[in-house]
Amino acid sequence: MDNVLITGASGFIGSFLTEEGLKRDYRVYAGIRRSSSKEYLKDERIRFIEMDFSSVEKIADTLEDCKKQGITFRYIIHNAGLTKARKKDDYQRVNFVNTRNFIEALIKTGTVPEKFIFVSSLAAFGPGNPETMAPVLLSDTPNPIELYGKSKLEAEKYLNSLESFPWLIFRPTGVYGPREKDYYIFFKTINRGLETYIGSKPQILTFIYVRDLVRLIFDALPSSIVRKGYFVSDGREYDTQTFAAITKEVLGKKTIRITVPAGLVKQLAAGLESLYSCWGGIPTLNRDKYNVLASSNWRCEVEPLQRDFGFNAEYDLEKGVRETIAWYKKEHWL
Ligand SMILES: NC(=O)c1ccc[n+]([C@@H]2O[C@H](COP(=O)([O-])OP(=O)(O)OC[C@H]3O[C@@H](n4cnc5c(N)ncnc54)[C@H](OP(=O)(O)O)[C@@H]3O)[C@@H](O)[C@H]2O)c1
Repeated sequence: MDNVLITGASGFIGSFLTEEGLKRDYRVYAGIRRSSSKEYLKDERIRFIEMDFSSVEKIADTLEDCKKQGITFRYIIHNAGLTKARKKDDYQRVNFVNTRNFIEALIKTGTVPEKFIFVSSLAAFGPGNPETMAPVLLSDTPNPIELYGKSKLEAEKYLNSLESFPWLIFRPTGVYGPREKDYYIFFKTINRGLETYIGSKPQILTFIYVRDLVRLIFDALPSSIVRKGYFVSDGREYDTQTFAAITKEVLGKKTIRITVPAGLVKQLAAGLESLYSCWGGIPTLNRDKYNVLASSNWRCEVEPLQRDFGFNAEYDLEKGVRETIAWYKKEHWL
């Protein structure tokens, strides 16, 4: 039985990674914080490790403790990350500095795994060209448009700078599925009979269902491929209306459509941001968020995934939304 360590195991994607690891007969170590919820980590085969990535010393101590107990990790999936921050510096600290601390500690303690998968994001490259609507290619120069994407890119650059570290990077586009809390707001709004849009410009969105993502990551663990990065989507493209139409059909709802002018949302975002800047905070609606919501082209190249890992998504948006909504209903979220 091989050991796999999954950081951020308590989160949405991390909890599915943990389940997939158990399903594939790995000895799964869930890297969590003392404050982390174990709501989706109830399987008694899961072994927990409290991990504090805030300094190389702290994380090295944890790795040394593991070593003393004869625990080393053949594979590590570094999935812990911050997607929403209260303060601007938090993205850089968690997504870049913590990742660097972790890797330095692995090197220092001689516990570098056979493969280290870094869960990055399409945001590290930013959206595609809105004029040509061409997909973002692996050969493109990354151009993140917000702090989150910039912090993921910084971590990627650090990985790239290491001479022989066995990293593999996956950059998922929007990930949805049971337990998820952001797209959930969209589902909830439609369930209440409202369909809201920012501006009238058409948008191309891409998605990956969480079960497909974790299957891909576990397929990639034992492969011989290292030191490469990949975008991850289900290989299809959707416009915002399609997403709403599928959701309405699955929920059996009719909606009132509201289009908020893009300029107004942008002004509001800027206003809220300057208000929050008094104490260094970030409002939920901020200019970064606006830029992401208003970007019209989230197409990305996925052929390399198919070529290198034989990956084909089992879920298109309709199948994934159906399963997701069924879960939200079962859990009385909807
Ligand atoms: N969801 C998406 O659409 C999407 C798309 C592309 C990439 N990603 C990436 O996928 C990964 C997982 O995202 P998610 O959607 O599952 O988010 P999530 O539900 O918020 O989970 C984030 C996980 O990271 C942990 N974490 C956050 N800050 C940490 C810190 N300072 N130290 C240690 N652990 C920390 C959290 O621990 P606690 O439970 O203790 O807070 C949680 O387990 C992230 O790296 C994210 O950037 C997500």
